Amino acid sequence: MKGVILAGGDGTRLHPLTLVTNKHLLPVYNKPIIYYAIEKLVEAGIDRIMLVTSPRQVEHFVNLLGSGQNFISKNNGKQIQIVYGIQNGPSGIAEGLWIAKDYIGNDNCVLYLGDNILEDDIGEHIANFKEGATVFLKAVKDPHRFGVAAVNATGHVLKIEEKPKSPKSNLAVTGVYIYDNSVFRKMVGQPVSERGEYEITYINNKYIEEGKLKSVLLKKAWFDAGTPDSLIEAGNFMKNKFLES
Ligand code: DAU
Repeated sequence: MKGVILAGGDGTRLHPLTLVTNKHLLPVYNKPIIYYAIEKLVEAGIDRIMLVTSPRQVEHFVNLLGSGQNFISKNNGKQIQIVYGIQNGPSGIAEGLWIAKDYIGNDNCVLYLGDNILEDDIGEHIANFKEGATVFLKAVKDPHRFGVAAVNATGHVLKIEEKPKSPKSNLAVTGVYIYDNSVFRKMVGQPVSERGEYEITYINNKYIEEGKLKSVLLKKAWFDAGTPDSLIEAGNFMKNKFLES
């Protein structure tokens, strides 16, 4: 399985912090946000990663991460491989994944939104993945900020709504997704949403229609470090974790 980390976007909710610097290069306690994404995938046994970002900012990531020499594979003790994909503008998460299509080839993939920080280890879900899609849910107080899962009495996901005004549950769909290779076929002919983006929620609903979407409830902490409040919350959490270790 290969990994795709999205680190593009304008980071408008963090202006002026992100007027010059990419959001994913900002610090969360003692590391840039992007380190948490890479380390989470490496912990899960992913050795080959495409990082997708904007043409304006790709050189900063190359300077920081190079070919992946600071990250060591769990599988063979050697450095992981990081390659780069360019997204010309923030046209949506599904479009960001599409850029990695040739890199993924016939493989399955894990898509990781680079501003997400999660504590749970997702390794067993990647190791046991066979087909369809897996999404990771987290109960939150402010579901309207996220993709929200409508679930039935047994917790089965019936539909996902992107940033609904009246959320049908408190279960946010976090920014980590495991997909089989049919994900790219599902993007063919995809319409743009009302906000003008190729939404990943559209793709996830396609898997639901096929009865092939599995959901996993995260047990530990999760942050979407895309706002000033969540950025400082994630930093304080990581500081406490670091001091306890
Ligand atoms: O964090 C989880 C949420 O992420 C999900 O619950 C939502 O369903 C999903 O749409 C997404 O919502 P956000 O509003 O938080 O997405 P945002 O625009 O902040 O982008 C998420 C990440 O993806 C961020 O690291 C930037 C990157 N990105 C985003 C877009 C739209 C790209 O690299 N390219 C893009 O075109």
